[in-house]
Amino acid sequence: MAAESGEKWVLAVTAQTPTNIAVIKYWGKRDEDLILPINDSISVTLDPGHLCTTTSVAVSPAFTHDRIWLNGKEVSLSGGRYQNCLRELRSRATDYEDEKKGIKITKKDWEKLRVHIVSYNNFPTAAGLASSAAGLACLVFSLAKLMNVKEDHSKLSAIARQGSGSACRSLYGGFVKWIMGKEENGSDSIAVQLADEKHWDDLVIIIAVVSSRQKETSSTSGMRDTVETSALIKHRAKEVVPKRIVEMEEAIAKRDFPAFSRLACADSNQFHAVCLDTLPPIFYMNDTSHRIISCVEKWNRHEGSPQVAYTFDAGPNAVLISQNRKAATLLLQRLLFHFPPQSDADLDSYVIGDKTILKDAGIQGIKDIEALTPPPEIKENASSQRFRGDVSYFICTRPGRGPIMLTDESKSLINPETGLPK
Ligand code: DP6
Repeated sequence: MAAESGEKWVLAVTAQTPTNIAVIKYWGKRDEDLILPINDSISVTLDPGHLCTTTSVAVSPAFTHDRIWLNGKEVSLSGGRYQNCLRELRSRATDYEDEKKGIKITKKDWEKLRVHIVSYNNFPTAAGLASSAAGLACLVFSLAKLMNVKEDHSKLSAIARQGSGSACRSLYGGFVKWIMGKEENGSDSIAVQLADEKHWDDLVIIIAVVSSRQKETSSTSGMRDTVETSALIKHRAKEVVPKRIVEMEEAIAKRDFPAFSRLACADSNQFHAVCLDTLPPIFYMNDTSHRIISCVEKWNRHEGSPQVAYTFDAGPNAVLISQNRKAATLLLQRLLFHFPPQSDADLDSYVIGDKTILKDAGIQGIKDIEALTPPPEIKENASSQRFRGDVSYFICTRPGRGPIMLTDESKSLINPETGLPK
């Protein structure tokens, strides 16, 4: 057995996992420990080039206990959710051997060997952009590779689900459905891919990271309160979502943007309505979020057909899905007209991600934003419709791929000698 004390080897792997945004929302659990939802949900995976988590995991006979570092800080791994994921993975670990390095780990050794986990987001965690989804999915995906777990992505999604519900949908790229399942043990509550990211590659996504001073209610406690106190959530889970899931799957399969947009906007609005129906009521959106909705609704109506869909999670940030590049360009002009940056901002950090859309919009510097003319659908006093500083920054992105392993050693976040963060 290789896992004897005194041995010095460190075995490490690194993975990268995307975030996802739900277009039919998960809100409410029927089992808090196993994280089993009260309805199916559907999401779009976001391009990991712009938003992702990178996680390195390592094992060594020299490690004395399981440890995790998130964005440079060591945090506790003792929480039930982490422990459930680790237990599920260890029970599925298989034999591993690297003759060259003299490493041999048997299935039984994994129970005793301790792991180190080092994880980074390439976006600010504080921005409230589904960091737990990408983070937990990456933890499960990378540990599964390290431990030679031979399960498919759907089985891994059921493990990631026990870390954070929405994480199960980050195991795939493109368009993903989390099937709620019926079994009490949760074995059929898994994510499946509806279509990959190439299926509908016209879509362009712009995220408005909305400035907010308010500490938001966590999804976990918010949805618990909703299930306990809202009458509306029962109607939503039983009557509304099942029909919407069927329609959304069809809209995605046919690339039917008007249907996709109608369903995504309606579902986001209903999710926030059940939050308002909770006791005490939960307010995730703020005035800026509401202004973004009005701007999109006005423009869609003016055009006579939907150009862009909006959706908001448990926070004020807007995720805006445009039907194509042309619509995204026109959307960005509108957003920058209404939400110009503070005077000391620089354009490079105000619009991040795929900056080519900025170029298409004819914006090369801050002065081009100041010179934007009001969009034609605005009838009222246009100068009173500019809300400087209400958006922190914009991220231009698109639907993206699922998790990948990073084989380039230089990408590893773990020092191969010490097994500690680099
Ligand atoms: C509003 O997955 O963060 O983003 O399962 O308790 O960890 P837990 O909750 P979480 O909830 C996400 C809720 C949502 C909608 C969605 O992603 O479907």
